[in-house]
Amino acid sequence: MDSILVTGGRPLHGEISISGAKNACLTLMPAALLSDEPLTLTNAPRLSDIRTMTQLLESLGCEVASLQDGRVLAIGTEAISNHTADYDIVRKMRASILVLGPMLARDGHAVVSLPGGCAIGARPVDLHLKALEALGAELDLREGYVHAKATGGLKGGVIDFPLISVGATENALMAATLARGTTEIRNAAREPEIVDLATCLRSMGAQIDGDGTGTITVQGVDRLHGATHPVVTDRIELGTYMLAPAITGGEVELIGGKRSLVAAFCEKLEAAGIDIEETERGLKVSRMNGRLKPTNVKTEPHPGFPTDLQAQMMALLTLADGTSVLEETIFENRFMHAPELMRMGAQIDVQGGTATVTGVETLKGAPVMATDLRASVSLILAGLAAEGETTVSRVYHLDRGYERVEEKLGACGAKIARVAGA
Ligand code: EPZ
Repeated sequence: MDSILVTGGRPLHGEISISGAKNACLTLMPAALLSDEPLTLTNAPRLSDIRTMTQLLESLGCEVASLQDGRVLAIGTEAISNHTADYDIVRKMRASILVLGPMLARDGHAVVSLPGGCAIGARPVDLHLKALEALGAELDLREGYVHAKATGGLKGGVIDFPLISVGATENALMAATLARGTTEIRNAAREPEIVDLATCLRSMGAQIDGDGTGTITVQGVDRLHGATHPVVTDRIELGTYMLAPAITGGEVELIGGKRSLVAAFCEKLEAAGIDIEETERGLKVSRMNGRLKPTNVKTEPHPGFPTDLQAQMMALLTLADGTSVLEETIFENRFMHAPELMRMGAQIDVQGGTATVTGVETLKGAPVMATDLRASVSLILAGLAAEGETTVSRVYHLDRGYERVEEKLGACGAKIARVAGA
């Protein structure tokens, strides 16, 4: 397993290009199952999760051409030859559940393994299943698989989510595009990735209104045609790299960044004493001198502070001049980066879903272990600021969501290298 070696204490200067959004691409790719004409995605990120989704779609009979060094994905689904998504792929990546709605909508039947939990929580899929049942699907859970069928096709209906779920909204939205009649999705997720999916589906001929708000209305159509769609900028990668100059000092321009994608996050960064300037090419982030100010953070569904930036923000706040309180309201176990940050000298008290961070003057480099995707990058951010060397192990977590992190940070002056593991 590879490790990343970081030698801290160097302010960063330069620019970083932000890639297409992993969490948009992972729902746009299954959308290709809805049509017998090709869907071409441009600005695709080159990540291991994308390769896993490619494997899954190919196992269902899709043809996936990876062009322009992986930046373009041309996905053809003339026919779905296999309607079963196997456990050995689904267990590697929860987003695999997103093939359920499209397969059901396209052919009226699907068998998908339950994804199982992951490090940050149990992450059930009950809301996905209830949404599809509201569209007339009959579901049977057997030996860890969901056996779904919709004899005569899906029918439009009202889906009223008791809690906001990004993935369940995406599954419901994709299924509704081919359901007979009108579907109303209430308490829908409002993330930019939902809007990006709706935009792509409309370009395929779907009739969707209200995406980006809490209520989405879909008029079902008989079929969808092919399209070409650019994957939206990755707001989580953007926020992550905005924290690099914030935590080390210096100034970095994030090419392709838009404040509108990370508005709540920017407010917290500015409260901590970071300067954010909108430029023609993106966002310029700087912190010249003086200690960071403490600030409190509560994760919420969009447009609130994103849970996927909580670990990274905690790394910054370990160096603030005072105490900050971080409340994680989305997942039940998303503070696994805290004990690793404490190995570097951070002072953090975790009580259930609340972490109280008492800022320290400096962090000390140490060997630490990545536990999940966003925790791994928070350790790298801490390593960039720490005195001495930090080795982050198990970086396969990192490669799921960050393209060439050591190149992007190294180009801004960071002393960072990947060490091939045994
Ligand atoms: C998406 O996961 C993202 N993943 C996650 O990013 C992100 O953290 C999450 O949304 C929240 O923004 C992708 O888009 C591939 P949810 P998703 O359904 O859809 C509970 C990353 O780091 N829930 O919005 O799985 C669930 O347990 C990843 O890139 C149910 O109870 O998240 C959680 O507590 C991590 N039943 C809450 O809802 C369900 O059927 C929100 O989950 C579904 C979810």
